[in-house]
Amino acid sequence: MRIGFIGVGGIAGNYRESLRKLGKPVAAVCDLNPQRVEEIAELEKASPHTDHHEMLAKEKLDVLFVAIPPGFHTTEVIDAARSGAALFVAKPIGLDWDLVRRTRDAIQEAGVLNQVGYMARYSDITEKARQVAGDRSLAMGVGRFLCRMGASHPWWGKLSLSGGQMLEQSTHVFDLLRYLVGEVQSVQAFGRKGVSSEGIADFEEVTVCNLHFLNGAVGNVTSTCVARANDGFAAELFGDDLYLHLTMDTQLRGNVGGEVIEFTGVETGYFRQVEQFLKAVEANDQNLVRSSYADASKTLAVTLAANRSLETGKVEEA
Ligand SMILES: NC(=O)c1ccc[n+]([C@@H]2O[C@H](COP(=O)([O-])OP(=O)(O)OC[C@H]3O[C@@H](n4cnc5c(N)ncnc54)[C@H](O)[C@@H]3O)[C@@H](O)[C@H]2O)c1
Repeated sequence: MRIGFIGVGGIAGNYRESLRKLGKPVAAVCDLNPQRVEEIAELEKASPHTDHHEMLAKEKLDVLFVAIPPGFHTTEVIDAARSGAALFVAKPIGLDWDLVRRTRDAIQEAGVLNQVGYMARYSDITEKARQVAGDRSLAMGVGRFLCRMGASHPWWGKLSLSGGQMLEQSTHVFDLLRYLVGEVQSVQAFGRKGVSSEGIADFEEVTVCNLHFLNGAVGNVTSTCVARANDGFAAELFGDDLYLHLTMDTQLRGNVGGEVIEFTGVETGYFRQVEQFLKAVEANDQNLVRSSYADASKTLAVTLAANRSLETGKVEEA
């Protein structure tokens, strides 16, 4: 299996580490940054490229990890799909709905196996939460992504490159709530800009987003990139005599029908998402994937609606 990367920045390091644990070597790497790509190519003993077209033409790759920031996406995933490689794409899959829709269709047309890096779907606590909730219906799902962003990613604080915190970061929470509660019909978001004195972001640095799910459930996602909260990524589920609190990555607690739930997971989802992807590739079975590109496009649609709502102040259809 010949594995390649488009984008070898921060999260690619995490994916490469999982591949290393699985004993899967990387054959080729591509990054716009020539210094970075040489450094990673040397570490991986892989061939370096700075142009993905050239890499796709020369390397005959079976599997491609695409790990580039949302605002940098052009046709990388479309070109990779047309090369016939199975695709693992970092979340969020882009900023531009038209491009994402065209990419989704190109993947379907090429018929290649595909997965998006929504690792929370692969964590022990998410599996356990689904198991203990069973077929009880969920009436409310709330979540949060609270952190203080540093300066490590110069693109992050720019709306035009990252899409803002809800689209880039809290996307994990929106996606997890979709996975656990159901499809989102409409959203209404509010936010405030200019909270940090050092200008962490040019977009809203605190946001709240109410959710109305198609099945009638309600919810909310609260986000900030200016506060050092210590259980930053968390979700809570509510139903009739049901309460579950997931603190990512490994803690689940709650009470279901009078039974106290206290569970500590081992697997955060980061490793398992890559392991599961390779199992799906080897079996050529898209059903083994919990987070396809087409599914991730629905999460993007929700966060794009949340961004529109920040501007209009109105309820927006997802
Ligand atoms: N937990 C997670 O799932 C998680 C965590 C961090 C980042 N991410 C996501 O991964 C993506 C990348 O984030 P990062 O933190 O690795 O960013 P990064 O800035 O560390 O690295 C991105 C790399 O992509 C390269 N790049 C950009 N466009 C390219 C192109 N067309 N061809 C080749 N290389 C290109 C850049 O030169 C850079 O080296 C983002 O979408 C981010 O949201 C996911």
